[in-house]
Amino acid sequence: MDVFVIKGGKKLNGSIEVGGSKNAALPILAATLLTEQKCIIENVPNISDIRTMLKILKNMGSRVQFANNTITTETGKDLRPEAPYKFVSTMRASICVLGPLLARAKYAKVSFPGGCVIGPRPIDLHLKGLKELGASIDLKDGYIIARAKRMRGKVIYLGGNFGSSVLATANVMMAATLSQGTTVIENASCEPEIVDLAKFLVKMGANIQGYSTPTVIIKGVKRLNGVQHRVIPDRVEAGTFMIAGAITGGNITVKKVVPEHLTAVLDKMREVGIKLKIGKDTIGVSAGSRIKSTDITTLPFPGFPTDLQAQFMTLTTLADGISVITEKVFPRRFIHVSELNRMGANIFVEGASAIIKGAKKLSGAAVMASDLRASAALVLAGLVASGTTVVRRVYHIDRGYENIDKKLNTLGAQILRQKE
Ligand code: UD1
Repeated sequence: MDVFVIKGGKKLNGSIEVGGSKNAALPILAATLLTEQKCIIENVPNISDIRTMLKILKNMGSRVQFANNTITTETGKDLRPEAPYKFVSTMRASICVLGPLLARAKYAKVSFPGGCVIGPRPIDLHLKGLKELGASIDLKDGYIIARAKRMRGKVIYLGGNFGSSVLATANVMMAATLSQGTTVIENASCEPEIVDLAKFLVKMGANIQGYSTPTVIIKGVKRLNGVQHRVIPDRVEAGTFMIAGAITGGNITVKKVVPEHLTAVLDKMREVGIKLKIGKDTIGVSAGSRIKSTDITTLPFPGFPTDLQAQFMTLTTLADGISVITEKVFPRRFIHVSELNRMGANIFVEGASAIIKGAKKLSGAAVMASDLRASAALVLAGLVASGTTVVRRVYHIDRGYENIDKKLNTLGAQILRQKE
């Protein structure tokens, strides 16, 4: 297993390019199952979650190629609509093949995803939406077995106790593209990744309106075509780089980013005293003299993203005063807290909130990565800590960041990847 050995205390300077969005690319790859024709997807990050999705597609009979961040897929008549446990257990996002399989093959057998380290992750909204379209669903031997002779559009309310669901919206939207009549998804997710998926589907010939709003209207069509598409930049990778620049007191420019996808994050960065220079597709970040404390609540888009909560928490560990971060999307997503405390942070968790008393400094330590974004938070801590930080189990970070070590090193970081 790989570890990162990080020598902290280096200011990051220079410019860095953001790759394509993992969370946009995954459902788009699932959507390629909706057509027998060839699809070309550009700007796809070469990370393990994407490679897992390609294994799932291959296992179903798709012919796939992946080179230079471009994926070609073709799923002919020999589609086998099954996603086994060995893939779904390593990546919950595999669940988003359910909608396309039902639409195209009228049958899907997909392993039931379990809970995960960031807390319970039910799929009731996915199943509810697909059932409302007319699918029958059985849960047997750990598998979801879904059948749909014919799916018919209707008005479907997709909100849950924690608001809209990104991948449930993706699943129902994809299934509805080939259903009869009109589907209206109420309380749909408005995340940029869902908008990118909708644009991909529209290029394929789907009739979708209202995407980027909570009411999405899909008029079913008979068939969809193969297309070429460029995935949007990864806003979480961009936010992680911005925080890396800020926390080390550096001066960096993040390139190939969509600033409008990060409005809530930019607002909080300004509030804590970071100077920003926003261009058309660039964000310049330079740190002020001290980080100020703040209060953050994670929410569905356009609110502050839960996927940047852990990283922003690392920033607030060094703020003047007390910050409060409340999770309204995954209320138990605080697994990084104990590791940050081992590095000298002063954080305690009360219910769905973390209370962070700003410390004067962080100190290098051996820490354990536990999930994708939590590991990024530990790398950020390692960049600013005195001495050496060893982050173990970096396979978590490799799921979602392409060469984060190499990219940060081009800005002056000292991160060494080693075998344990
Ligand atoms: C996606 C992202 C993930 C991000 C999350 C929230 C991908 C591949 N993953 O995950 O990185 O952290 O959105 O922005 O895009 N919920 C239910 N029932 C359901 C589905 C969800 O109650 O059927 C709840 C979840 O437990 C959570 C909330 O809804 O509390 C939001 O989850 P959701 O938007 O579905 O997350 P994902 O789509 O799985």
